[in-house]
Amino acid sequence: MDNIAGVKARILGQVADAADESALETLRVAAVGKKGEVSLMMRGLGKMTPEEKQVAGPALNALKNEINSALAARKSALGDAALNERLRSEWLDVTQPARPAQNGTIHPISQVTEEITAIFADLGYGVAEGPQIENDFYNFDALNIPPEHPARQEFDTFYMHRADGDNRPPHVLRTHTSPVQIRHMEKHGVPCRIIAPGRVYRSDYDNTHTPMFHQVEGLAIDTDISMANLKWTLEEFCRAFFEVDFVELKFRASHFPFTEPSAEVDIRCSWKGGQLKIGEGDDWMEILGSGMVHPKVLEAAGVDATQYQGFAFGMGIDRLAMLKYGIPDLRAFFDSDLRWLRHYGFASLDMPNMRGGISG
Ligand code: DAH
Repeated sequence: MDNIAGVKARILGQVADAADESALETLRVAAVGKKGEVSLMMRGLGKMTPEEKQVAGPALNALKNEINSALAARKSALGDAALNERLRSEWLDVTQPARPAQNGTIHPISQVTEEITAIFADLGYGVAEGPQIENDFYNFDALNIPPEHPARQEFDTFYMHRADGDNRPPHVLRTHTSPVQIRHMEKHGVPCRIIAPGRVYRSDYDNTHTPMFHQVEGLAIDTDISMANLKWTLEEFCRAFFEVDFVELKFRASHFPFTEPSAEVDIRCSWKGGQLKIGEGDDWMEILGSGMVHPKVLEAAGVDATQYQGFAFGMGIDRLAMLKYGIPDLRAFFDSDLRWLRHYGFASLDMPNMRGGISG
């Protein structure tokens, strides 16, 4: 049985030295495979005497078992080593901060429109919309601005092209959101309480004017709505929008063809140190036009002006955004300058700050 001991020492030595799983498999086939060394030795048992067999049989079985366990042990050791090597080479630091994602920002106009909508939603106002390409009737006539009215010239209107020989009045890019008043009442009737934010267009360009800008129209019609309701609504809006507990508004008599009486509204503010503060100081800044809806406007929209009355107002959204967020130049709003957008833009989860909310 010296032979068995020698074979055992050699094979176990080779198993211990096997460098990887495929070398191990070659060794297994050569040793305990069907035609392997040990299997051939076992076949030799048949030619032995019973006495020899009694000694050699168990010894060969033991040899085979030992080789099998050595193979299994080496295999698992090689597996561990491979895993350890992967763990070492593929190591990554999960405590490192993630790479910042390039998020876009919400444009101040969108943000302020959301804020205005949220405040008026609290007051029970829905949102209405109308087309940006309007016809003469909705943009002017229905709002009590007949063709010869001087207000038509004041508006710096963009007129759309008509084919030669087509003498119908041209369509216009709406010069204000007021036509939405008519469209809404025509379609949904009264009583109503809506705001209509959106783009408007005038042929004008300087520090404080861009040919496209944004307005929000307000309209509240019922049987008993008065100027006092208008005043309360606008004061409440300004308090919530500018996030101040106290605002002072000045209703200055004015004229709009679509309201009677009409008022422009100024808000008390201070410009001390070049910084704008709303609700204090000795300056006044105009923020909107408003008034009691003219009976002719109600009638143009099919509303019985002997039964119904109400107020309307129109504010510049861009102006409100500049005032609230200290943005000095209107034109930059529409330059699409990424640096500006990143600086003045809002994160998507910046909810309108409604400190104080709506009282009453
Ligand atoms: N449409 C006016 C403008 O563009 C603003 C305005 C004034 C709207 C008075 C109104 C209003 O609804 O009642 O200048």
